[in-house]
Amino acid sequence: MHYFEYRSGELHAEGVPVRRIAEEVGTPTYVYSLATLRRHYQIFDQAFARLPHLVCFSVKANSNLAVLRVFVRAGGGFDIVSGGELFRALKAGADPKKIVFSGVGKRTDEMEDALRAGILMFNVESQQELRVLNEVARSLGKKAPISLRVNPDVDPRTHPYISTGMKKSKFGIDIKRSVEEYKKALSLSYLEVIGVDCHIGSQLTSIPPFVDALERVKLLLGALRTEGCHIRYLDLGGGLGIRYKDEEPPHPDLYAEAIIRGLGGLNVILILEPGRVIVGNAGILVTKVLYLKETEDKKFVVVDGAMNDLIRPALYGSYQGILPVEERTGETMVADVVGPICESGDFFAKDREIPRPKPGDLLAVMSAGAYGFSMSSNYNSRAKAAEVLVDGESFYVVRERESLQDLIRGEAIPSILH
Ligand code: LLP
Repeated sequence: MHYFEYRSGELHAEGVPVRRIAEEVGTPTYVYSLATLRRHYQIFDQAFARLPHLVCFSVKANSNLAVLRVFVRAGGGFDIVSGGELFRALKAGADPKKIVFSGVGKRTDEMEDALRAGILMFNVESQQELRVLNEVARSLGKKAPISLRVNPDVDPRTHPYISTGMKKSKFGIDIKRSVEEYKKALSLSYLEVIGVDCHIGSQLTSIPPFVDALERVKLLLGALRTEGCHIRYLDLGGGLGIRYKDEEPPHPDLYAEAIIRGLGGLNVILILEPGRVIVGNAGILVTKVLYLKETEDKKFVVVDGAMNDLIRPALYGSYQGILPVEERTGETMVADVVGPICESGDFFAKDREIPRPKPGDLLAVMSAGAYGFSMSSNYNSRAKAAEVLVDGESFYVVRERESLQDLIRGEAIPSILH
């Protein structure tokens, strides 16, 4: 469910015509719907209402300060993977006691910042990281609260680039070896072992892989209890998928029900790290048609947005819906919707049937709220897009479009080249 729909033939974001935003802010621009963000967060949070739990929004999915603030106001926490995300979460007003720090390559300065901030826990991914974190905590005279991210070796049945819980992936600690690792963690005096964590992948569209992972993690919890290690937090990561085209991912209620059933009364505080399911369908990328280009074999719609703005189709071959901002019923065409970047991988859609647009028309790339702007770059020296948040009849620019000066900020020509 989201609040992007046609009203009198014009695509609206809540009560605002998308055309108005494009006219005032330009294109390409990301547009987020506040009502959708709130609704998705609430539905997800409510689904777990029966259990003590904490929803830690995965900042990597969308790290705009205003978006993060929506979840702060809703009482949520954050899953971060870098010092930069910690900085953003704190700037957005996050309660550090609701922040979990995941990631396979935490640097010591990032660990220090997180320890100083007083985060809830570090999800540790290797034995070396355990030792380094212990040393960093010692140097600050603090204890680092930790969980181990275990790798349960479950196939999430999703794109290989976003599968993270299989034996051969770089993530987590092999669940079979994890009791040993927990023992090591318990022996390090500047660590406080409080949790178990796992995250098996992203854009999962069925429940069984989550339940399989939970079963395996539960066995581990049992083994840890026999070792006298009392685990208070169980972090099950993120990963619930959304509909981009015709996927039928389970509703958060069904997902939560399966997990609650799987937990079977286990006495832990549950942590969840959803990203995509909260923000994915709460955002669109608005882009303008520059040219129609037709060759003997192919038709191209060249737009002003590109793979630097939204890389998902290029990187994962993923599908993003594309709608004309002005509803059209007439002639359609089958075309590639492509950006101006000098790579054949620069496309939003391939061989897509769309209403035939004309130069100047606006198109909305749907389901772009997750891993859209947050994965954008300046490739081809393209300034990053603006971001807009819509609330009812109003809209707010929550990130200005970058300027040409922004593009060269920090660069210098050394004197030897003067
Ligand atoms: N927790 C951890 C430890 C993660 O690595 C991730 C995502 C999440 C939570 C949130 O997962 P979600 O609920 O959003 O599925 N760029 C890719 C997705 C990469 C996901 C990386 N990890 C894409 O655009 O599909």
